[in-house]
Amino acid sequence: MSHYIINGGRRLEGTVRLHGAKNATLPILAAATICGDSVIANCPCLTDVEVALDILRHLGCDARREEDRIITTQTVGGSCVIPDRLMGAMRSSIVFLGAMISRFGCAQVTLPGGCELGSRPIDLHLSALRQMGAEIHEDCGALRCSAPQGLHGADITLSFPSVGATENILIAAAAAKGETILRGAAREPEIGDLIAFLKGCGGDISADIDGTICIRGVSQLHGTSHRVIPDRIAGGTYLCAGAITNGEVELEEAEAAHLLSTLAWLHNAGCRVNVNGRKVWLRGTPRLRELGMVKTAPYPGFPTDMQAILMAVAAVAQGTTVFVENIFDGRYRHIPELRKLGCDISVQGRVAVVNGGGPLHGAPLRCTDLRGGAAVVLAAMAAEGESQVEGIYHIDRGYECMEQHLAALGGDIIRTGR
Ligand code: EPZ
Repeated sequence: MSHYIINGGRRLEGTVRLHGAKNATLPILAAATICGDSVIANCPCLTDVEVALDILRHLGCDARREEDRIITTQTVGGSCVIPDRLMGAMRSSIVFLGAMISRFGCAQVTLPGGCELGSRPIDLHLSALRQMGAEIHEDCGALRCSAPQGLHGADITLSFPSVGATENILIAAAAAKGETILRGAAREPEIGDLIAFLKGCGGDISADIDGTICIRGVSQLHGTSHRVIPDRIAGGTYLCAGAITNGEVELEEAEAAHLLSTLAWLHNAGCRVNVNGRKVWLRGTPRLRELGMVKTAPYPGFPTDMQAILMAVAAVAQGTTVFVENIFDGRYRHIPELRKLGCDISVQGRVAVVNGGGPLHGAPLRCTDLRGGAAVVLAAMAAEGESQVEGIYHIDRGYECMEQHLAALGGDIIRTGR
């Protein structure tokens, strides 16, 4: 298995060109299952995206990559069963469900895999699809779904603005009979990107800023050309790499509007930030300040995906920072790893208290999940001495060549092993 060897303590300085957003690419590829031939640009080279391409091909939609573009071509046929190995490889496999029922009138899947962040039920997905006319039988982790008459519009209210459920409903409703009103929808930028893709394919969708989306189903979705938005979490990660090493990092091809809550926290910590069109620049400070209380929340609040990464920054800042994780009930698995580096962090339920400022030292480390892994790598970049980081396949799921970007910024990091 590959791992990173990091010799920390170097100031990171330079430019990172951001790749496209994983969490926008995956639902757009799911939507491509029911759309005409399309060209989707700015798709990152990530293992999760490769899994999505495998699923697409399985469903009868040929998909090939040309540099950062994915070209999808409809073929006749395809299977309405996603094999367990593909379902288990990532969480987003469940976002194919609405598209499959729409395409085949039936679907057979098992429960999705993905990062272990606590309980991750799919009740909101299933109840919405049932309201749209799907019959769904659950049996020991297997789901058998059918809608012989096709899906129809419905008035759906989400009790929580689930990103994945919103995506599933959008895709299913885009080609369903009649109108769907979705209330309490997620408002993450990746949802906006999925809507833009579906509208490019002829979808009739309007979204209010309050999280109500009206989708009038169309009989056929044609193809389109679409460019995926930049990855705001990868962007936030590289800015934090600058902050944690008292460095200076500029992002190219960024969308600053999507990074506002992260930029605000880094500014509060004493970093200088500047936005110039598609460029976002950050300069760190030798004395980062504590952050007070950081609470994760649905967009436009502070993203749960940045929680572990900002926690690494808080660990080197002066004073005490309190994190409250409001989205997932088990998203602190990185904390024991950060402690190995010397971070002083205690946890009670959803609250983590970081007493920053202590010196960090290299240690043998393990990535526990995608963003937790990124946090551990950043903390190791700031720590004096050598760290070996295992389990970097988690990082490959969401960051294109992270080690190459960090090395280009002046970090001493190499990937070894197979
Ligand atoms: C998406 O996951 C992202 N994944 C996650 O990013 C991100 O952390 C999350 O949204 C929140 O922003 C992708 O886009 C591929 P949710 P998703 O449904 O869709 C509960 C990363 O690191 N819930 O919004 O799975 C759920 O348990 C990943 O890139 C239900 O109760 O997130 C959680 O507590 C990790 N029932 C909360 O809602 C449901 O049916 C948010 O989940 C669905 C969700």
